[in-house]
Amino acid sequence: MPSPPLSMKPTGWFQVAWSDEIAVGAVHRMTYFGQDLVAWRAESGRITVMGAYCEHLGAHLGHGGTVTGENLQCPFHGWQWNAEGRNVCIPYEDRPNRGRRIRTFPAVERNASVYIWHDAAGREPFFEAPDVFAGFGDGSGAGDYYRQQRLFEPALAMHPQYVLENGVDAAHFKFVHKTPINPVFTRHDFDDPVSYVDFTITFEGDDGQRIEDVNSGVQAINGGLGIAVTKSWGMIDNRTISCITPVDDTTSDVRFSVYIGRTPGKDGERAALRAEEFGLEIIRQFRQDIEIWSHQRYSASPALTGSEHSGFTAIRDWARQFYPDAAAPAVAADPA
Ligand code: FES
Ligand SMILES: [Fe+2]
Repeated sequence: MPSPPLSMKPTGWFQVAWSDEIAVGAVHRMTYFGQDLVAWRAESGRITVMGAYCEHLGAHLGHGGTVTGENLQCPFHGWQWNAEGRNVCIPYEDRPNRGRRIRTFPAVERNASVYIWHDAAGREPFFEAPDVFAGFGDGSGAGDYYRQQRLFEPALAMHPQYVLENGVDAAHFKFVHKTPINPVFTRHDFDDPVSYVDFTITFEGDDGQRIEDVNSGVQAINGGLGIAVTKSWGMIDNRTISCITPVDDTTSDVRFSVYIGRTPGKDGERAALRAEEFGLEIIRQFRQDIEIWSHQRYSASPALTGSEHSGFTAIRDWARQFYPDAAAPAVAADPA
């Protein structure tokens, strides 16, 4: 009997926009996890992501809804809804409807991105979305890097888990990314909802070199299935953020963001141009993965070799905690 396909309603943090796409006063329409949503930014700058339909008579708040102060006003009869999804004003009545509420999603802005917490069971967040700088504890910040470069690929037929499985898949680098030799994993830590993968890798030299002589690598932090951040060492300084967000039961939006490090004292136009080009090269490499993922069929019982077995087993066991039908539901932990 074939195993059921992976659920497209996993639990965790997922990117729904880049922060600068939603200005103060803007109302954005989006569909994620099979639900029509709006994201809007109040005058204070606070972002809210909630169901798109007004609880009064069902108008779509993303078609003519307006931000007034800290509330979103429906275009149909002017009812106002606050950041908790509560009705705070009915313009033609003395008091609001305190009972009706539009579903809101916990939302954070990090990595110049808007992330929402999705959990089919309605649980509060039990882990934090990783920060591409603070997550590595090295005192770095966006000011040390050139502007974020981006790739957006909407509605691809792929599942978030494919991207995470890259993090245990040593053999694909040579074929998909044309590395001279296979990388070697130095850390696979899948104990918690936030997991860690480190590997030694080079994109230079020939296939005769030994991995022991390679002095470059990548560290990755996976915040659930939706967000992975990476830091490179020993090569051109770069950070990446890859985010896969299910749209419906078959497709996902893919967002990929790249930062290239500035070199102190070398901040001229030439250096900026080179950084831009290197960012594009990283994006090109990510596209090579996407070409595979977006046409891949999930293999529930893959033909793994001996060297692949432990990594794939570890990541698939880890991934199970994020699915609504998980045999062992994720344990709520203090997100602090
Ligand atoms: S439908 Fe929104 S106020 Fe009437
Ligand atoms: Fe890859």
